[in-house]
Amino acid sequence: MAFTYFFRDLAALHAIRDHVIPALRESRDIHVWDAGCAMGPEPYSLAIIFKESLGYYAFKRLKIYATDLDEENYQFGKIISKGVYPEESVKRIPKDVFHEYFSPNEKPGFYKIADEIMDRVSFQKHDLRSLKPIRDNFGLIVCKNVLLHLNESERIEVIRMFHRSLASGGFFITEQTQKMPAETAHLFKQITQNVQLFQKN
Ligand SMILES: C[S@@+](CC[C@H](N)C(=O)[O-])C[C@H]1O[C@@H](n2cnc3c(N)ncnc32)[C@H](O)[C@@H]1O
Repeated sequence: MAFTYFFRDLAALHAIRDHVIPALRESRDIHVWDAGCAMGPEPYSLAIIFKESLGYYAFKRLKIYATDLDEENYQFGKIISKGVYPEESVKRIPKDVFHEYFSPNEKPGFYKIADEIMDRVSFQKHDLRSLKPIRDNFGLIVCKNVLLHLNESERIEVIRMFHRSLASGGFFITEQTQKMPAETAHLFKQITQNVQLFQKN
């Protein structure tokens, strides 16, 4: 479980807290697509950030669709539905947040995430190269450390698909080292400079 962990990119989580959640909090349903979620720390970190910012009722309107190709068949769906993670993946979570949402598992050195967070996240297998979105009207699409696995033309088509499946004014975030291709730049405006956070035009 070494290649992803909770609160991996604090700047991105803070940008979502400061720019995305205030814009989405009044929506009837808050739909988020985490594309290339690996075994779950990223969608669960997102759910925690929403929980910390939204009130009790608004948080119930959040649904995070976590998808991954799961090429090596690590059974990401099973891992995500158990919500149990080793010390190594949870140790960068701020202490107060960790104590609020995790409890020790019967297996020593493992921690279970709270049901209220787990209830907001569902997993399905999905290949971005299919260019078929899992649904539309997303308020936020998160795709981090994934696009680098695609070639340039695949990346452009995937970003076009994300644009199509976002609601009007919806947001797209990717990792800082991933620049927006010139072919899709006109589809979005960049919201922050320190994070690759974009809003649909
Ligand atoms: C390095 S992990 C990133 C995990 C997480 N997004 C993060 O930043 O912590 C990359 C993930 O992208 C997934 N992936 C690669 N190609 C994909 C594709 N064509 N469709 C969906 N997922 C893909 C891999 O299976 C892997 O889980």
